[in-house]
Amino acid sequence: MLWKNIRRLLFMADAEKVHHAAMKALKISSAYDGFAGGYIKDSRCLWNINFLNPMGLAAGFDKNGECLLAWQRLGFGYVEVGTVTAVAQEGNPKPRLFRLPEELALINRLGFNNQGARQVAQNITLQRKHSSLKIPIGINIGKSKVTPLEKAAADYLISFNLLADLADYVVINVSSPNTPGLRDLQATKALSELLEVICNANQKRKIKKPILLKLAPDLSVEDANACAKVATQFNLSGLVISNTTISRDGIKSAEQFGAGGLSGKPLFTQSTNMLKILHAEHKTKLKFIGVGGITDKSTAKIKLNSGADLLQAYTGFIYGGPGFVRNILKK
Ligand code: FNR
Repeated sequence: MLWKNIRRLLFMADAEKVHHAAMKALKISSAYDGFAGGYIKDSRCLWNINFLNPMGLAAGFDKNGECLLAWQRLGFGYVEVGTVTAVAQEGNPKPRLFRLPEELALINRLGFNNQGARQVAQNITLQRKHSSLKIPIGINIGKSKVTPLEKAAADYLISFNLLADLADYVVINVSSPNTPGLRDLQATKALSELLEVICNANQKRKIKKPILLKLAPDLSVEDANACAKVATQFNLSGLVISNTTISRDGIKSAEQFGAGGLSGKPLFTQSTNMLKILHAEHKTKLKFIGVGGITDKSTAKIKLNSGADLLQAYTGFIYGGPGFVRNILKK
């Protein structure tokens, strides 16, 4: 009830302004080491990493890796920082983030606004010094807007080399709808070229990192399976299913906001179906992070039953507030 009242007030202001204000508060709280044990323990071991519980914060919220301890205090079992690009960038013109409260959804066309891989590496290094930080940190990397698609692999490699040491796992994001051409990297040939470069670099590392691929829910079953097959050929550790959708099926109120990725409740069925199909086909070789439309305990359970080894949420947390993770994980 209290959160619903606070939320009503917050929703009177511009969505991105509220986001930045919240990040400032979380950043201040993250600067203090010490008690950060409010999380619910329901640990899972994947890729030799101990996840405190299966509920992670999805990429896009803490793009610069500035609030890691705050996520742990809010109960998240792990966090995925990013998307980080090699070149720092402002993202698309504002306004670019919109709420659809009746649908429990968001539309965004942020366009990878972030401080760039070098600065994010510094941010995470600083946070890693906190002795109470226990949650694994995934780092999600993408292509800088200024880099032409033909040079994408070299651009991802810059970010990978700067950030891999600081990551428990790395996600190759080829699925955001807000960077022109990015989703073309899901085509088999382009994807193979990209993964070859990143996986070669990973092989040369003393400590190899689990590498995952994040896909768009708008792929056909055939194309999604082709991507998963490429992922297995390169021995990737898993898939993140899924990113936001460009579909607006049945959502009239979406028209006024224009282009962007739709997330939250309307994405649940589409992303969960994709997860189910890919899990059935590739479960012996790949692990799955299920993301898209988790809003409560029952949607989290359906994702797990559809093949997710771990979960993530973004939009559900915006609507659910600080008690979101606890409400989902409580017995
Ligand atoms: C995102 N998402 C996202 N994903 C990603 O890989 N890199 C990113 O930078 C972002 N940025 C981003 C910004 C905003 C405002 C939103 C709402 C989402 C996608 C996100 O990680 C997730 O895949 C989808 O939002 C689906 O999950 P939810 O929101 O339905 O729980």
